[in-house]
Amino acid sequence: MHTHMKYLAVATLFLSASSALCAADLTKAYDMPDASKMIENDLFPAAKEYTMPKSCNLDDAKAIARGEYIFHNLNGKKAKKPAPEGLVKFIETKDKDGKVKKKAKQYGNCVACHNIEGAKGAGNIGPSLEGYKANFIDTKARDAQFVYQKIADPRVDNPKTHMTVNLTTGLFNEQEICDLTAYVVSDKKKK
Ligand code: HEC
Repeated sequence: MHTHMKYLAVATLFLSASSALCAADLTKAYDMPDASKMIENDLFPAAKEYTMPKSCNLDDAKAIARGEYIFHNLNGKKAKKPAPEGLVKFIETKDKDGKVKKKAKQYGNCVACHNIEGAKGAGNIGPSLEGYKANFIDTKARDAQFVYQKIADPRVDNPKTHMTVNLTTGLFNEQEICDLTAYVVSDKKKK
């Protein structure tokens, strides 16, 4: 009985030693990705300068309507009114098994930080954009290019900005930045 236990102990020792060896061998078979590369990918992309595209039609009523919708809403699930022409509330994405899934489209929720005409409960982290055309565009203090750059990547003229980066991060595309620009610089009294 006593010797039997001794054998068992030796056998267990041998087994654990060999499994440790196996584990050591297995690591060679593992994929060892370069962690620094992965971290690099997760980092915020560097600030980028943009030129407002010629395709930006600032006088287009439909573009202004889309900009207004993006400005005042958080996402397609929360947005109450129907989406204007050229915008969707939900995007279809495919999961790993190829199943089509509906995902709420993300909007700007710019009212979280900016007041503007018709805003319901706006934040004041950013300056009020009310009367923007009369105060900033007509006086030539700002132009559409400035507004486009600010919305696309505000870090270019303020590296310490608290504003969201919208184009460099891929949150929005060029068209959507155009729509937002058109809305901000539009004459809202006409409505
Ligand atoms: C988290 C807060 C925050 C959000 C969200 C935000 N902004 Fe701003 N915004 C700011 C701040 C702060 C400034 C002041 C200038 C700066 O820091 O760049 C600013 C500046 C601006 C200006 C420039 C005003 C001027 O003439 O000086 C515009 C235009 C603007 N924001 C548009 C938008 C739009 C459009 C959105 C939504 C896509 C938005 N902002 C979302 C914080 C915000």
